[in-house]
Amino acid sequence: MPHPIILAPSILSADFARLGQQVREAAAAGASYIHIDVMDGRFVPNITMGPVVVRALRPLADELNLTLDVHLMIEQPEQMLPAFARAGADILTVHVETCPHLHRTVQQIRELGAKPGVTLNPATPLVMLEEILPYVDQVLVMSVNPGFGGQAYIPASTEKIARLRRLLHARGLRHVAIEVDGGIHPENVREVVDAGAHVIVAGSAIFNDRASVAENLDAFWRALGRP
Ligand code: DX5
Ligand code: ZN
Repeated sequence: MPHPIILAPSILSADFARLGQQVREAAAAGASYIHIDVMDGRFVPNITMGPVVVRALRPLADELNLTLDVHLMIEQPEQMLPAFARAGADILTVHVETCPHLHRTVQQIRELGAKPGVTLNPATPLVMLEEILPYVDQVLVMSVNPGFGGQAYIPASTEKIARLRRLLHARGLRHVAIEVDGGIHPENVREVVDAGAHVIVAGSAIFNDRASVAENLDAFWRALGRP
Protein backbone atom coordinates (compact mmCIF):
# COMPACT_ATOMS: atom_id res chain seq x y z
CA MET A 1 0.00 0.00 0.00
CA PRO A 2 1.51 3.38 -0.92
CA HIS A 3 2.20 5.80 1.89
CA PRO A 4 -0.13 8.79 2.15
CA ILE A 5 1.56 12.19 2.28
CA ILE A 6 1.52 13.45 5.86
CA LEU A 7 2.17 17.00 6.98
CA ALA A 8 3.93 17.17 10.35
CA PRO A 9 4.08 20.71 11.72
CA SER A 10 7.05 21.22 14.05
CA ILE A 11 5.90 23.08 17.14
CA LEU A 12 9.45 24.44 17.56
CA SER A 13 8.23 27.55 15.72
CA ALA A 14 4.80 27.67 17.38
CA ASP A 15 3.62 30.32 19.84
CA PHE A 16 4.19 28.46 23.11
CA ALA A 17 1.81 30.72 24.98
CA ARG A 18 -0.98 29.37 22.75
CA LEU A 19 0.35 25.91 22.01
CA GLY A 20 -2.92 23.99 22.30
CA GLN A 21 -4.73 26.43 20.04
CA GLN A 22 -1.96 26.27 17.44
CA VAL A 23 -2.13 22.47 17.42
CA ARG A 24 -5.92 22.61 16.98
CA GLU A 25 -5.49 24.96 14.01
CA ALA A 26 -2.93 22.65 12.44
CA ALA A 27 -5.19 19.61 12.88
CA ALA A 28 -8.17 21.45 11.41
CA ALA A 29 -6.07 22.32 8.33
CA GLY A 30 -5.10 18.72 7.64
CA ALA A 31 -2.01 18.01 9.73
CA SER A 32 -2.07 14.48 11.09
CA TYR A 33 1.31 14.40 12.87
CA ILE A 34 2.72 16.90 15.36
CA HIS A 35 6.51 16.96 15.28
CA ILE A 36 8.16 17.65 18.65
CA ASP A 37 11.83 18.70 18.59
CA VAL A 38 13.69 17.73 21.74
CA MET A 39 17.14 19.35 22.14
CA ASP A 40 19.58 19.01 25.02
CA GLY A 41 22.15 21.76 24.46
CA ARG A 42 24.82 19.08 24.00
CA PHE A 43 24.13 17.08 20.85
CA VAL A 44 22.79 20.28 19.33
CA PRO A 45 23.50 23.87 20.41
CA ASN A 46 19.99 24.62 21.65
CA ILE A 47 17.66 23.54 24.48
CA THR A 48 13.96 23.10 23.85
CA MET A 49 11.41 20.82 25.50
CA GLY A 50 11.08 17.52 27.31
CA PRO A 51 8.48 14.88 28.23
CA VAL A 52 6.30 17.44 29.98
CA VAL A 53 5.31 18.93 26.60
CA VAL A 54 4.50 15.50 25.16
CA ARG A 55 2.36 14.79 28.21
CA ALA A 56 0.56 18.12 27.86
CA LEU A 57 -0.30 17.43 24.20
CA ARG A 58 -1.34 13.77 24.64
CA PRO A 59 -5.02 14.39 25.48
CA LEU A 60 -5.31 16.82 22.56
CA ALA A 61 -3.68 14.28 20.25
CA ASP A 62 -6.24 11.67 21.35
CA GLU A 63 -9.12 14.08 20.82
CA LEU A 64 -7.92 15.14 17.35
CA ASN A 65 -6.47 11.78 16.28
CA LEU A 66 -2.93 13.17 15.94
CA THR A 67 0.32 11.22 15.98
CA LEU A 68 2.98 12.66 18.29
CA ASP A 69 6.23 12.37 16.35
CA VAL A 70 9.10 12.99 18.78
CA HIS A 71 12.54 13.84 17.34
CA LEU A 72 15.23 13.33 19.98
CA MET A 73 18.29 15.50 19.37
CA ILE A 74 19.88 14.45 22.66
CA GLU A 75 22.91 12.49 23.79
CA GLN A 76 22.32 9.09 25.41
CA PRO A 77 18.66 9.04 24.34
CA GLU A 78 18.22 5.55 25.85
CA GLN A 79 18.14 7.15 29.31
CA MET A 80 15.16 9.34 28.41
CA LEU A 81 13.17 6.94 26.23
CA PRO A 82 11.00 5.54 29.07
CA ALA A 83 9.97 9.04 30.14
CA PHE A 84 9.00 10.03 26.60
CA ALA A 85 7.10 6.79 26.08
CA ARG A 86 5.22 7.22 29.38
CA ALA A 87 4.41 10.80 28.41
CA GLY A 88 2.63 9.47 25.31
CA ALA A 89 5.00 9.68 22.32
CA ASP A 90 3.77 7.63 19.35
CA ILE A 91 6.99 7.73 17.32
CA LEU A 92 10.41 8.08 18.95
CA THR A 93 13.21 8.99 16.55
CA VAL A 94 16.87 8.81 17.60
CA HIS A 95 19.99 10.05 15.82
CA VAL A 96 22.45 7.39 14.70
CA GLU A 97 25.23 9.77 15.82
CA THR A 98 24.04 9.43 19.44
CA CYS A 99 23.53 5.65 19.52
CA PRO A 100 26.57 3.33 19.54
CA HIS A 101 24.15 0.43 20.17
CA LEU A 102 21.42 1.48 17.79
CA HIS A 103 19.89 -1.99 17.45
CA ARG A 104 19.42 -2.19 21.22
CA THR A 105 17.99 1.33 21.33
CA VAL A 106 15.49 0.57 18.56
CA GLN A 107 14.43 -2.60 20.39
CA GLN A 108 14.01 -0.56 23.58
CA ILE A 109 11.66 1.83 21.76
CA ARG A 110 9.52 -1.09 20.56
CA GLU A 111 9.43 -2.66 24.00
CA LEU A 112 8.20 0.66 25.36
CA GLY A 113 5.27 0.45 22.94
CA ALA A 114 6.30 3.25 20.58
CA LYS A 115 7.27 3.16 16.91
CA PRO A 116 11.01 3.48 16.32
CA GLY A 117 12.42 6.03 13.92
CA VAL A 118 16.05 6.66 13.08
CA THR A 119 17.68 9.75 11.66
CA LEU A 120 21.02 11.12 10.58
CA ASN A 121 22.66 14.51 10.16
CA PRO A 122 23.21 15.92 6.66
CA ALA A 123 26.91 14.90 6.69
CA THR A 124 26.27 11.36 7.94
CA PRO A 125 26.13 8.82 5.11
CA LEU A 126 23.06 6.63 4.61
CA VAL A 127 25.21 3.52 4.93
CA MET A 128 25.23 4.12 8.71
CA LEU A 129 21.57 3.02 8.74
CA GLU A 130 21.77 0.09 6.39
CA GLU A 131 21.74 -2.67 9.02
CA ILE A 132 18.94 -1.16 11.10
CA LEU A 133 16.43 -0.54 8.28
CA PRO A 134 14.51 -3.82 8.75
CA TYR A 135 13.81 -2.92 12.38
CA VAL A 136 12.40 0.60 12.07
CA ASP A 137 9.08 2.15 11.04
CA GLN A 138 10.43 5.47 9.82
CA VAL A 139 13.69 7.01 8.59
CA LEU A 140 14.13 10.76 8.91
CA VAL A 141 16.44 12.52 6.47
CA MET A 142 17.66 15.76 8.07
CA SER A 143 17.80 18.47 5.43
CA VAL A 144 19.38 21.07 7.74
CA ASN A 145 21.89 20.71 10.55
CA PRO A 146 19.66 20.11 13.57
CA GLY A 147 19.37 22.74 16.27
CA PHE A 148 17.21 25.56 14.98
CA GLY A 149 14.12 26.27 12.92
CA GLY A 150 14.17 28.58 9.93
CA GLN A 151 17.37 27.34 8.25
CA ALA A 152 17.77 26.89 4.49
CA TYR A 153 17.16 23.49 2.87
CA ILE A 154 20.41 21.71 1.93
CA PRO A 155 19.89 20.82 -1.76
CA ALA A 156 21.83 17.52 -1.64
CA SER A 157 19.09 16.16 0.67
CA THR A 158 16.83 15.51 -2.33
CA GLU A 159 19.27 13.00 -3.81
CA LYS A 160 19.75 11.42 -0.36
CA ILE A 161 15.97 10.88 -0.07
CA ALA A 162 15.91 9.30 -3.53
CA ARG A 163 18.81 7.00 -2.61
CA LEU A 164 17.05 5.99 0.61
CA ARG A 165 13.90 5.18 -1.34
CA ARG A 166 15.88 3.00 -3.76
CA LEU A 167 17.60 1.26 -0.86
CA LEU A 168 14.29 0.54 0.90
CA HIS A 169 12.70 -0.77 -2.29
CA ALA A 170 15.71 -2.94 -3.11
CA ARG A 171 15.57 -4.44 0.37
CA GLY A 172 11.81 -5.11 0.24
CA LEU A 173 11.16 -2.50 2.94
CA ARG A 174 8.59 -0.29 1.23
CA HIS A 175 6.54 -0.11 4.42
CA VAL A 176 9.22 2.04 6.10
CA ALA A 177 8.14 5.69 5.92
CA ILE A 178 10.56 8.37 4.74
CA GLU A 179 10.41 11.65 6.64
CA VAL A 180 12.21 14.89 5.78
CA ASP A 181 12.91 17.72 8.23
CA GLY A 182 14.41 21.17 7.75
CA GLY A 183 13.86 24.08 5.39
CA ILE A 184 10.71 22.66 3.77
CA HIS A 185 8.18 25.17 2.40
CA PRO A 186 5.51 25.16 -0.34
CA GLU A 187 8.11 25.98 -3.01
CA ASN A 188 10.22 22.84 -2.44
CA VAL A 189 7.76 20.34 -0.96
CA ARG A 190 6.95 18.84 -4.38
CA GLU A 191 10.65 18.16 -4.94
CA VAL A 192 11.06 16.13 -1.73
CA VAL A 193 7.80 14.23 -2.27
CA ASP A 194 8.82 13.35 -5.83
CA ALA A 195 12.14 12.09 -4.45
CA GLY A 196 10.26 9.76 -2.09
CA ALA A 197 9.44 11.54 1.18
CA HIS A 198 6.08 10.73 2.80
CA VAL A 199 6.18 12.61 6.10
CA ILE A 200 6.90 16.31 5.66
CA VAL A 201 8.07 18.26 8.68
CA ALA A 202 7.78 22.04 8.54
CA GLY A 203 8.16 24.54 11.36
CA SER A 204 8.73 28.13 10.30
CA ALA A 205 6.72 27.72 7.09
CA ILE A 206 3.64 26.78 9.14
CA PHE A 207 3.96 28.78 12.37
CA ASN A 208 4.88 32.38 11.47
CA ASP A 209 3.39 35.86 11.60
CA ARG A 210 3.00 36.23 7.84
CA ALA A 211 -0.17 34.14 7.61
CA SER A 212 -2.40 31.89 9.71
CA VAL A 213 -1.57 28.25 10.35
CA ALA A 214 -4.53 27.31 8.14
CA GLU A 215 -3.35 29.51 5.25
CA ASN A 216 0.17 28.16 5.52
CA LEU A 217 -0.98 24.54 5.53
CA ASP A 218 -3.30 25.25 2.59
CA ALA A 219 -0.29 26.51 0.63
CA PHE A 220 1.42 23.15 1.24
CA TRP A 221 -1.65 21.19 0.14
CA ARG A 222 -1.98 23.32 -3.00
CA ALA A 223 1.69 22.76 -3.83
CA LEU A 224 1.01 19.03 -3.46
CA GLY A 225 -1.89 19.29 -5.88
CA ARG A 226 -4.71 19.08 -3.36
CA PRO A 227 -7.19 21.97 -3.25
C1 DX5 B 1 15.66 21.32 13.30
C2 DX5 B 1 14.41 20.60 13.72
C3 DX5 B 1 13.28 20.84 12.80
C4 DX5 B 1 12.85 22.28 12.72
C5 DX5 B 1 12.41 22.53 11.32
O1 DX5 B 1 16.67 21.02 14.20
O2 DX5 B 1 14.64 19.20 13.77
O3 DX5 B 1 12.18 19.99 13.08
O4 DX5 B 1 11.81 22.62 13.58
O5 DX5 B 1 12.15 23.88 11.18
P1 DX5 B 1 12.02 24.56 9.76
O6 DX5 B 1 10.87 23.92 9.07
O7 DX5 B 1 11.79 25.98 10.11
O8 DX5 B 1 13.32 24.33 9.03
ZN1 ZN C 1 12.81 17.83 13.89
